[in-house]
Amino acid sequence: MRVAVTGASGRLGRSVVEVLAAAGHEVHGLDRAWGDGVAPVDLTDPAETADVLATIAPQALVHLAAIAVPFSAPEREIFSVNTSMAYTVIEAAVAAGVEHVLVASSPTVLGYGAPGWAPDRLPFDESAPCSPANAYALSKVCVEETVAAFARSTPTVRFASFRPCYVITPEEWNGAPTQQGHTVLDRLQDPGLAAVSLFNYVDARDVGEFVAAWLAAERSPSGACYFVGAEDALATRPLDELLPLFHPGARDAARALAGTVGAFDTSAATRDTGWVPRRSWRTELPPDARAALAASDSPTEGRAP
Ligand SMILES: NC(=O)c1ccc[n+]([C@@H]2O[C@H](COP(=O)([O-])OP(=O)(O)OC[C@H]3O[C@@H](n4cnc5c(N)ncnc54)[C@H](O)[C@@H]3O)[C@@H](O)[C@H]2O)c1
Repeated sequence: MRVAVTGASGRLGRSVVEVLAAAGHEVHGLDRAWGDGVAPVDLTDPAETADVLATIAPQALVHLAAIAVPFSAPEREIFSVNTSMAYTVIEAAVAAGVEHVLVASSPTVLGYGAPGWAPDRLPFDESAPCSPANAYALSKVCVEETVAAFARSTPTVRFASFRPCYVITPEEWNGAPTQQGHTVLDRLQDPGLAAVSLFNYVDARDVGEFVAAWLAAERSPSGACYFVGAEDALATRPLDELLPLFHPGARDAARALAGTVGAFDTSAATRDTGWVPRRSWRTELPPDARAALAASDSPTEGRAP
């Protein structure tokens, strides 16, 4: 399939491009930032975006480009760039004759961690109501609604959005700084760092495999939204123990998160596409980091996910 991937130079985009190319797709990367084989384009510019997509005439669009980090720019800018860029790119892809459109959202749409946050139940599945509490999360709710609106108005095209958990790239397992500037090992050793995202995470290659599985699942429902995350939590202790320490309002709901169970249920993605996450911190962390972790006291470290 001829696939246009926006945000192809980003931490997620690089792995998505690699996995899709390895699966035999003809991949066209688009990004404002330089990347190997990536076409330079400002995807907030409607004319430029329409031109480049009309030239490629992709069968599928994977839209990842965004201001991807909450509070990394002024709130108004995050909201307006993410919402208008998604609309611009989807509109241009539809005009160019695309058949499949998959768009990145974020689990932050649920608003966890806001003052007084107290979930009714955990783990979260896609039926949990959106409750955004910052411009990034709000922009992603609008992006999901944009996808759903196009799905209603354009039944000839299959649409979906997905909510990748905290993305970890291959080099980040080996010590490169993650999106938040610290390492994966720091995040495991200091639970306060991962508590912000409810200990969710996903390997970037697993996200690439989800994208490939969704593209192949041509009969999956249009307008759907999926959590895409690892099967376990990025934590050395069970979340029924850890979550209430950082989110007291989640104490009751966290009782369901015993053992290695994470706070997000990804079974809808498996049901509709056959995708399963294959990687865990338990399989990807190199031996020296595992030794450092074991030395820093971790009762559940080493258990199978
Ligand atoms: N990284 C995570 O943990 C995470 C978690 C949840 C959701 N997401 C979402 O996944 C997607 C990819 O995230 P990422 O971590 O790869 O982010 P990233 O910042 O590494 O990559 C985003 C890419 O988008 C490009 N971009 C931004 N504005 C652009 C514009 N106007 N024109 C062209 N390109 C532009 C950037 O140059 C960058 O290469 C984003 O939509 C993000 O919100 C990421």
